[in-house]
Amino acid sequence: MKTKITELFDIEYPIIQGGMHFVGLAELAAAVSNAGGLGIITGLTQGTPEKLAAEIKRCRGMTDKPFAVNITFLPTLTPPDYPGLFQAIIDGGVKIVETAGNNPAQYLPMLKEAGIKVIHKCTAVRHALKAQAIGCDAASVDGFECGGHPGEDDIPNFILLPRAADELSIPFVASGGMADGRSLVGALAMGADGINMGTRFIATQEAPVHDNVKQAIVVASELDTRLVMRPLRNTERVLNNPAVERLLEKERTLGADLKFEDIIDEVAGVYPKVMIEGKHDEGAWSCGMVAGLIHDVPSVQALIDRIMSEANSIIHTRLNGLYL
Ligand SMILES: Cc1cc2nc3c(=O)[nH]c(=O)nc-3n(C[C@H](O)[C@H](O)[C@H](O)COP(=O)(O)O)c2cc1C
Repeated sequence: MKTKITELFDIEYPIIQGGMHFVGLAELAAAVSNAGGLGIITGLTQGTPEKLAAEIKRCRGMTDKPFAVNITFLPTLTPPDYPGLFQAIIDGGVKIVETAGNNPAQYLPMLKEAGIKVIHKCTAVRHALKAQAIGCDAASVDGFECGGHPGEDDIPNFILLPRAADELSIPFVASGGMADGRSLVGALAMGADGINMGTRFIATQEAPVHDNVKQAIVVASELDTRLVMRPLRNTERVLNNPAVERLLEKERTLGADLKFEDIIDEVAGVYPKVMIEGKHDEGAWSCGMVAGLIHDVPSVQALIDRIMSEANSIIHTRLNGLYL
């Protein structure tokens, strides 16, 4: 399949694996790229420029296809060494960066000079337009359904994607709620040039996370996510569990007085416990409503092949058939 996104990133299929904390390691990124999509290493999981450089090297040992690095700008008082992380990406010869969380403008000159393409992930048309104006090459448009941070506007993809298509001139991918060939064809119909998937890629054989996490996604339905940290204007969609219920009870009790420190037990340091140790009930971790469409743990290659063949059959048989 050829779209503006496959052309821009020199990949076979317009399927991207979004950056995911403690999930987007070299194993998953390489598997997605080897299967014809675009795999992404999550920069902040590595934390330091040295560790990120080593992870990029490890990924290069597993694939000769293009892969990307995600850098997420976090609302934190002690930010990571962002300039160092970007330098590690440049020195590692990576040619695609996914940014998220905030405006990447200050780092664009160094990335452009190194010939790096930037795809910025955002949850609002106005932010995508800003990304376009500052010189990003593409946008990843994340609807309200998405796992992780859907922003505060709550616009689902059936509205957000056509709105983005009406306004943007750079290519964009649909993110949030994408799982199969139906998602891909639907996204293309709404004007996107491909899809970005998070939750779906966690439930794959190559995702380097504990099997408990994959099974928790397989058994979850579309009703099983919750929005946390809304009072802090840092909304995150997570899989419901006892820790999340506790967190939501604190939000209800404390109301407008809620501070980050009040919920630190439920949100800080959770990812290694969940993803590595498999203690998936011990805190809040990102998961999309799309869990309701995930029923198996295939290899990445099998997943991507299935999406592409399903998309092919929808376009050529089901849709074409409507005109016969
Ligand atoms: C467990 C998990 C961790 C994530 N971590 C990050 C992250 O560190 N940075 C980021 O930009 N997005 C992160 N995301 C968001 C994904 O990249 C992607 O945008 C989102 O999952 C798309 O929605 P979906 O889950 O419905 O496919 C995360 C998502 C999940 C499920």
